[in-house]
This record gives sequence, C-alpha cells and structure tokens, in this order.
Amino acid sequence: MADIIEQKPKTMLTGFQPTGVITLGNYLGAVQNCVKYQKDYNSIFFIADLHSLTVRREAAELRQASMSFYAQLLACGINPADALLFFQSHVPEVSELQWILNCYAYVGEMTRMTQFKDKSAKHQDNINMGLLDYPVLMACDILIYQSDLVPVGVDQKQHLELTRNIAERFNNLYGDVFKVPEPYIAPAGAKIFSLQEPTAKMSKSDPDENATISIIDDEPTILRKFKRAVTDSGNEIVMREDKPGISNLITIYSCVTGKSVADVEKEFAGSGYGNFKIAVGEAVAAKFAPIRSEVAKYLADKAYIQQVAKESADKARYIAMKTLRKVQKKIGLVQF
Ligand code: TYM
Repeated sequence: MADIIEQKPKTMLTGFQPTGVITLGNYLGAVQNCVKYQKDYNSIFFIADLHSLTVRREAAELRQASMSFYAQLLACGINPADALLFFQSHVPEVSELQWILNCYAYVGEMTRMTQFKDKSAKHQDNINMGLLDYPVLMACDILIYQSDLVPVGVDQKQHLELTRNIAERFNNLYGDVFKVPEPYIAPAGAKIFSLQEPTAKMSKSDPDENATISIIDDEPTILRKFKRAVTDSGNEIVMREDKPGISNLITIYSCVTGKSVADVEKEFAGSGYGNFKIAVGEAVAAKFAPIRSEVAKYLADKAYIQQVAKESADKARYIAMKTLRKVQKKIGLVQF
C-alpha cells in the first residue's frame, strides 16, 4: 500500500453508510468521482458504520454489510494504492472530537437540518440523539483530516454547509485550526431519482426494489427494472422539468456513457420511450457487469480487506490525532 498521506497538496474525503448495496445513485453521485480523482489528492474514504447506528441493526447484519460495502468500494475502483479506505469506528479520535464540536454546534441549527426532519418523520418511534447529532459526526469526519474537497450528492449539501459553519466558528475563536472544506457536487448525477417515483431520491433504504438499481444487480434484473421505470406523458426524449421520469433516465444514460445530454436527445429523437429504456438498461448493465464479479472476488478475501482496512485506519489515525491534539490544546484541556 502506497504511503499516500500528506503527499499531495490537497485532501479529498468522503464516507458511505453501510446500508444495503451501493446504488446507481451512490455510484453516480459520489463513488465515480472518488475513483476518477483519487490519484490527484490525498484520498481518504471510509465506511460510516457509526452513522448507520441511528437505525436499529442486527449486530451480525451490520458487520456483514460493512465488510460487503468495503468489498463493493474496492470493486468500484477505489484503489488502496491511491487512497485510504477504512471503517469510521476504527478511528476513535473522530468520536472524541465529536464531543468537543458538539459544544460548538447549536441545537437550533441541528433541528433545522432537512435530513433530521425527514428521518424523524419516518422513524417516529426512534428519534434518537444520534439522528440529531449525525451532522456533527459528519463534520468531525471531514474536519479531523483537514479535508479540502468532499465529493457528495446533493442530499449532503446542507451537512457540508453546517461543517463549514462549525469550522469557521471554531477558527474565529482559536485561529486556523481546521481547513474549511468545499463540497464537490458533480454537475450531473448528483441527484439520481427513484425509477418508480421520479421526484424522490433513489435511496438504498427504499422498500420498493424496482425503484433502485444496485451495482450487483444482474443484467436481466437491471433491464427489467428500467423497462418498468415510470415515465411521463408524451413520447419525446428530452430533458425538461415537466418530464422528471425521462429526464432522470437521460441523466443516467449520459453519466454512464459519457455522452452529453444534447447528444443523447439527438441520438434518441423519435425512437420512443420503450427503446430508450432498453438502451439505458443495457448501458448500466454493461457498466456494472465487471464490478459485480469483482465484488464476489473481494468478498471472498476477508484477510485482504482486514489488512488494507487496518493499515488505512492506522494512517488515518496519525492525521486525526494531530488535529485532535491541536484542538485539545487550543481549548485548554491539560496535556502532559
Ligand atoms: P450515504 O451512504 O447515504 O450516501 C453515500 C453518497 O451517495 C450520495 N447519494 C446520491 N447521489 C446521487 N443521487 C442519489 N440518489 C444519491 N443517494 C446517495 C450521497 O450524497 C453520498 O455522497 N452521511 C453520509 C455518509 C458520511 C459522509 C461523511 C459523507 C458520513 N460522514 C463525511 C461525506 C463526508 C451518507 O449517509 O451517505
């Protein structure tokens, strides 16, 4: 594993919750950009296992999902020669920083977070403190590694704004302790919508399996889901606000093939929804076929995952500890 920490001028960081399987939304919104730019930055990626505790999980299921997510990210092209890839909980300094930064985050700003409001409405029987504090843990993930750039989908934008606010608030009091990070929200693909309800985000936790595509779906499954995708009235293949279904499919096709939206519209002018859905399904299936077989390969090699994850976490801890010590000193905790 290359010694990649602090080698490049800038650091890119992002995390993924180990819930279900990486979806087409996760892939186009974040994973693909991590893979594309991993060589250009000190790249730090992790499985956000602590974040996923806000919803009750069976211990064995969480363990299995976390390992599987790790294998999935490797299969998507995250390369341990270019990037650190580890489990969030293996860097305890992040949780230590969380207590401190909790004291610099206001309850009012936390209750205003859209995701907190959405999730507490959905899980009324379990509105736990973790759900409210989730964005502070995210801020700690980002700030402890002095990240410059955070590739995320649109749904995480508000959390990034909060992270910037907390960093600036702390820096105003104590000097330049944290780098103030920038989100990287890709111009296309930053919000992929459900195939069944094209005004809602494609989400790993959607109970309707026809609504999402995962990187391990096989070709017949992918084709079937795209054939069933909800489209709009009319038959024109154009990107337009009143056509959320077909616009979503155009975005997907354009991101997967690298063709511009204008070229996609031209290519399918007059060809009808049915043909277009098949073409999108085939393009996605072709993109994911090699990833699918790689997932199985990595999953079978738990020793490799363990070794790479441990080495990565050790390197991440080195950076995290430096930031944590600095913070502790600035705020006046006794250090010997
Ligand atoms: P998570 O696991 O929900 O999603 C992982 C990444 O995928 C993006 N994403 C999408 N992009 C486009 N279209 C969609 N339909 C779609 N659904 C999800 C997300 O925006 C995200 O970038 N809180 C984070 C994990 C996290 C994190 C961090 C991220 C923990 N700490 C620090 C960045 C920095 C989350 O739940 O992601």
